[in-house]
Amino acid sequence: MQASSVTPLKPVLQAVQLSKSFYSGSVNVQVLRNLSLTVNPGELTLIAGPSGCGKSTLLSLLSGLQRPDSGQTLALGVDLSELSREEMDAFRLRHTGFIFQGFNLFPALTSIEQVQLPLGYLGFSQKESKERAMNALEEVGMLHRAHMRPAQMSGGERQRVAIARAVAKSPQLLFADEPTSALDAQSGQRVINILHRIAKTHGVTILCVSHDPRLIEHADRLLHMEDGVIQKDSDISENEALGLAP
Ligand SMILES: Nc1ncnc2c1ncn2[C@@H]1O[C@H](COP(=O)(O)OP(=O)(O)O)[C@@H](O)[C@H]1O
Ligand SMILES: [Mg+2]
Repeated sequence: MQASSVTPLKPVLQAVQLSKSFYSGSVNVQVLRNLSLTVNPGELTLIAGPSGCGKSTLLSLLSGLQRPDSGQTLALGVDLSELSREEMDAFRLRHTGFIFQGFNLFPALTSIEQVQLPLGYLGFSQKESKERAMNALEEVGMLHRAHMRPAQMSGGERQRVAIARAVAKSPQLLFADEPTSALDAQSGQRVINILHRIAKTHGVTILCVSHDPRLIEHADRLLHMEDGVIQKDSDISENEALGLAP
């Protein structure tokens, strides 16, 4: 079989023995236990597991939103533990996009302003950031809502704006935390189709926490977490290579 002779891809994201605990009152709760993980470039990796098992915590350590108690995150070849707070913020701004369950849009801004905002911070000119924002909104089918504010839009529409905001800067890493769980079935399906298309056409690496079974068929890899560790790691793309996937 051809597959065995293919050179392994260089990891784009790597967790090495990550541990994290939180104090709840006076009790120390261990959330992640020596978790190691290697993510390959261009793959859509799905993380599933029961509520409270540490999925969001893992995403925040991998994206540099939080620091581990011990262990390391290597992202795009950079050891995040060596970065200062400011360098970490700059790294996240430049290289990562984040999509949240609750959309996290600014109530006072229109769709195009939401998408343009980070582009301004990245130093794009007004003209270029507007052009990029329009393209991103068009890609998620939201150009016709460019001048509306979140309160005027449905949940599905808000999430599509949030996706446009995350991808407009062409990040190498895209993190999504339960992006469809606040949406009705139809809007959820639309968001899934968009994420799938982005994974295939942008060459971006996507790490997505989700319980949505409809996302599994689009994923390259499925991780099942339980109690702070990865219990199961299934490579779905192998099926594709063998012609078994739909
Ligand atoms: N900032 C925090 N302070 C205290 N406890 C936290 C904090 N963040 C997460 N936890 C706890 O860590 C555990 C895992 O949380 P989380 O990563 O959000 O799980 P999941 O996303 O899988 O539902 C939960 O018990 C949660 O209450
Ligand atoms: Mg969570």
